[in-house]
Amino acid sequence: MGYPLDPSPEQMREMGQAALGYAIDFLGRRGDARASQPPGAPEVARAHRESPPEIGGEFTPLLELVETIANNAADNSGPGFLAYIPGGGLFASSLADLLSTTIDRYVNLWSEAPVAAQIENNVVRWLCDLFGFPVGSRGVLTSGGSMANFSAIVAARTDRLPEDFLSGLLYVSEHVHQSVTKAAMLAGFPVRNVRSVAADPSLRMDVDELRRGIAEDRAAGLTPFAVVGSAGTTNTGAIDPLDALADVAAAEELWFHVDAAYGGFFQLTARGRESFRGIERADSITLDPHKGMFLPYGTGALVVREGKKLRDAHHVGTSAYLQDLASDADIPNFAEYSAELSRDFRGLRVWFPLKLHGWSAFREALDEKLDLTEHLYEELKADPNLEVPWAPDLTVVPFRLRDGDDAANRALLAAINASGRVFLSSTVLEGRFTLRPCIVSHRTHRDRIDECIAIIRRAAAEIA
Ligand SMILES: Cc1ncc(COP(=O)(O)O)c(C=O)c1O
Repeated sequence: MGYPLDPSPEQMREMGQAALGYAIDFLGRRGDARASQPPGAPEVARAHRESPPEIGGEFTPLLELVETIANNAADNSGPGFLAYIPGGGLFASSLADLLSTTIDRYVNLWSEAPVAAQIENNVVRWLCDLFGFPVGSRGVLTSGGSMANFSAIVAARTDRLPEDFLSGLLYVSEHVHQSVTKAAMLAGFPVRNVRSVAADPSLRMDVDELRRGIAEDRAAGLTPFAVVGSAGTTNTGAIDPLDALADVAAAEELWFHVDAAYGGFFQLTARGRESFRGIERADSITLDPHKGMFLPYGTGALVVREGKKLRDAHHVGTSAYLQDLASDADIPNFAEYSAELSRDFRGLRVWFPLKLHGWSAFREALDEKLDLTEHLYEELKADPNLEVPWAPDLTVVPFRLRDGDDAANRALLAAINASGRVFLSSTVLEGRFTLRPCIVSHRTHRDRIDECIAIIRRAAAEIA
């Protein structure tokens, strides 16, 4: 009779092989899977309300539950998912997660697990290098872009404002992701301190408006301290004029943060680097490997030009119960650079696929997304029933019916999604309901985009 919480090698092998078999089978079925959530999923969810069992059960039914979970959801890691910002899920990262949670080493204070911390620091270093950040730059892997934006705003506030910081203002585009506003709120600012700068007709932040706003606010005795540019807005994929924003930030002595959660990894491509010119002048950059590196959810990143400033904003000094551990050194104590102490070893989840596939595989996949977007844009623009007002900066193609009100466009979205082959979401642009296919998944290829084009055209012809 063993200890049930510590299964025997035979039991572990049996369960592990069953789980691995399920995972491989699941990934093999993505091409045929329904892209949108099937009807009735909320009812299935409610039918799963239950109390915890007093006595344990079998493993096989748990795998069946995983299948129920996966099926009663939009297939956000599948080739037809073109809504919001699509997810990914690299197999190498799934294996890394299994192994890192199995060895369960403590990465956040480096002397507890020096090699783990070094591996994670390599990953952070590679991200800093991607944007030409200097030797003194540092960063952290976060749970996602929202937490990265939060730490960036806290670092900016600490660096640029006095302890009594409520006169501090930060400037964002009207299309900024709401996580930046939330970050400011959590960092202690009233939401009115987040100044929304109008976009120009190309949906990028209007730099003249920004300059004007800063001058007016200064004249009113307020204290501009940061400007946030987006390297790809979620709404439309527009890239703010980063070089011009860096000029304004330099002239006005503002912290320059770039939210590159959606677009950042396009920096690997020649086209992305060209569009992001100026990003290398940022004080901090948010990245989301669980978007542009196709990783499973739970992996964001923040890189900061002067790493010391990130630490100054998050470090509260040592505690007696941690006195046996080494202090921050050439290998960082990541806990001193973020809000988290205990956390998962995220670095392995990024390091595995990078070591296995190399940057070249990611560059190729991202270049493919840019090509697919161009193709989608050209084909939709050629359709007389559709209006496609903006050439894509990245991989979002906003469009709507040429002669259709919001109700007709809503019906168009519903008809497209009813196909089950693709799943799109919508936004509001120029006060009008607008569809916004977004191509990010590493599983989306030309065949699915051609199918998407045919589905959109057919639905548009029927509704028009
Ligand atoms: C531009 C941008 N910033 C921030 C975020 C927030 O990132 P996360 O969902 O990883 O917290 C997103 C998410 O879609 C985003 O697109």
